[in-house]
Amino acid sequence: MKISVLTLFPSLFENFLQESMIGIARDRSALDVHLVNIRDFAHDKHRTADDYPYGGGPGMVMKPEPLWEAVESVRDGRKIPVIYFTPQGKLLNQKIVMDYADQKEMILLCGHYKEIDQRIRDTLITDEISIGDYVLSGGEIPAMVMIDAIARLQNGVLNDPASALTDSHQQGILGCPYYTRPEEFRGMKVPSVLLSGDHKKIEEWRRGKALEITRKKRPDLLNNG
Ligand code: ADE
Repeated sequence: MKISVLTLFPSLFENFLQESMIGIARDRSALDVHLVNIRDFAHDKHRTADDYPYGGGPGMVMKPEPLWEAVESVRDGRKIPVIYFTPQGKLLNQKIVMDYADQKEMILLCGHYKEIDQRIRDTLITDEISIGDYVLSGGEIPAMVMIDAIARLQNGVLNDPASALTDSHQQGILGCPYYTRPEEFRGMKVPSVLLSGDHKKIEEWRRGKALEITRKKRPDLLNNG
C-alpha cells in the first residue's frame, strides 16, 4: 500500500510515521508513506499556496495551481483515489476504512485555511471524507487517523491478525471487555468463565457482552442493519 500525503505541513507527520503500528507497518514494507509539500509546487519566490477568496469574506483559500501540480506529480495520469478531508465529507467508519485498506495506492489531500479552490474539488478529488461533525484547522489529523486505521489492517502488521477481527466496529458492533493479570485487583475478580479454559463458552460470553455493550452505548449500530 502506497499513500501519498499532500500537505503544507509535512513535518507534522514525522514522529507519527516512526512510532508504534505505523513504524512497524513501514519497517515491514506493508506501508509506504510519501510526503509531498504542496508549497514545493508554488509558482512564486515566496512559495505562496493561499490567497484571498473572490467575493470577499474572512479566511484564505488554497490556490489551485500548486494543488493541481502536487496531485499530478504523484498521479502521473494514473487513476488512483484522491481523498480530500473536509467536514462536508462522508463520515469515516470501519467499513470505509476496510474498503480503502484493499487499495494499492491513494493520495490524501490535506487542506488548510478556509477551503481549497472549488475547481480542484470539481476535477481532481474522487472522495471527500470527514472524521466527525466538528471543525479542525486542517486535514493533517484526519489523514493520520486514516493512515493509522488502514495500516493496522495491512497483512503482516498486527502480530496476530485475528486481533483486528475482534476490535470494536470490525463486526459492526462494539468490542467485549478484556482483563489481564492479576486475577484479583483491589477486590475485583476476573469473570470466572475467562479462567475456565472452555473456548466455546468464552466465545459465547464475549459475543453476549459485546452485544450488551453495543445495546447500551451505541444502540444505533444494532438498528442499522
Ligand atoms: N478538516 C477540518 N475539519 C475536518 C473534519 N472534521 N474531518 C475531516 N477533515 C476536516
